[in-house]
Amino acid sequence: MAIFLSRSPEETRAWAENYAKTLSPGDVVLLDGEMGAGKTVVAQGIARGLGVEEDVLSPTYAYVNSYAPMFHFDCYRIASVRQAEELGFADYFDAGKVCLVEWSENIAPLLPEGCRRIVIRKTGENEREIET
Ligand SMILES: Nc1ncnc2c1ncn2[C@@H]1O[C@H](COP(=O)(O)OP(=O)(O)O)[C@@H](O)[C@H]1O
Ligand SMILES: [Mg+2]
Repeated sequence: MAIFLSRSPEETRAWAENYAKTLSPGDVVLLDGEMGAGKTVVAQGIARGLGVEEDVLSPTYAYVNSYAPMFHFDCYRIASVRQAEELGFADYFDAGKVCLVEWSENIAPLLPEGCRRIVIRKTGENEREIET
């Protein structure tokens, strides 16, 4: 277990960009933390580390955004595991890209074995504790 203390969104992005170096294609990373913790900010940094040039925005309405090396899921609005199954989530996890998953608790039965986890805790207005 390691804990990084971030003092700004950019510090979080820089940490995540570096974290991305430890990832291999097909890895599934669960991004845990309350609303506004910084899960999407971490996803932006990981995307930068993987060479994504597009802006990474929250996929809240689309459920999943696709980039060349990664998928970014936001399962906040997933109503049921069945809905996630019907959206073909299992295929995404098997596609050999890095998968970043916000609100993964909503699709717990569909998650593959051996997921990584990043926990983000809000410890101040601009301060976050990031645990891996
Ligand atoms: N140190 C920090 N790390 C990450 N985000 C931060 C930090 N300090 C402030 N923020 C702000 O917190 C918010 C995090 O939003 P977001 O990443 O969308 O959260 P989530 O996806 O967890 O709901 C952003 O507005 C960001 O600017
Ligand atoms: Mg988010």
